[in-house]
Amino acid sequence: MKLAPSILSADFSSLLEDIKKVEDAGCDLLHIDVMDGHFVPNITMGPPVVKSLKGKTKLPFDVHLMIENPDRYISQFVEAGADIISVHSEACVHLSRTIQLIKSYNVKAAVALNPATPLDVIEYVLEDLDMVLIMSVNPGFGGQSFINSSLTKIEKLKKMIESKGLNIDIQVDGGVKADNVKSVIDAGANVIVAGSAIFGSEDIESTVKQFRQNII
Ligand code: DX5
Ligand code: ZN
Repeated sequence: MKLAPSILSADFSSLLEDIKKVEDAGCDLLHIDVMDGHFVPNITMGPPVVKSLKGKTKLPFDVHLMIENPDRYISQFVEAGADIISVHSEACVHLSRTIQLIKSYNVKAAVALNPATPLDVIEYVLEDLDMVLIMSVNPGFGGQSFINSSLTKIEKLKKMIESKGLNIDIQVDGGVKADNVKSVIDAGANVIVAGSAIFGSEDIESTVKQFRQNII
């Protein structure tokens, strides 16, 4: 299991210190939630913030774009240091083109699906992807409750990937905590985003350990 703490729940006034904590605790990726106030009802950060973190942490940047028409900003996030870029199928008119654009920069490409979006929308682009992001909350805010129908969706996606003989990561984002991570992993996910559960914890190191112990 790869753990990707979402900095949405970090303390922005001491962001780098918080990032060091998750790095020291053995997390694998840094999940960066970008929101535009259009696609989702919240505004977070843009390329300058991401760029300011470049070279300050060993954690790869997993950039989750919750923005309309993301093509306009892909190059800026690449320049800012993104290693993985996720775009929402619901926000792309030409999803295949957007995926090719991300890949043209030698950055890993992922597609995110809202809870109500069926898996069919990625059927014909699946082989072009490095990762699929299953949203287990409606995007926009940290600290929401896990939507249980996501488990069936993860299982179906896993089967879809296996039936095509592909090797694609399944990331799950929203409402994942140490006490429900096992069901998410058992359903077939291998990359877990956790915001409030990790950054909201008093003891980040022991929370990360708990996540890892609970999936055994
Ligand atoms: C939601 C974001 C998530 C969020 C997860 O729109 O994409 O990454 O930060 O936060 P938690 O883990 O608190 O649900
Ligand atoms: Zn996210």
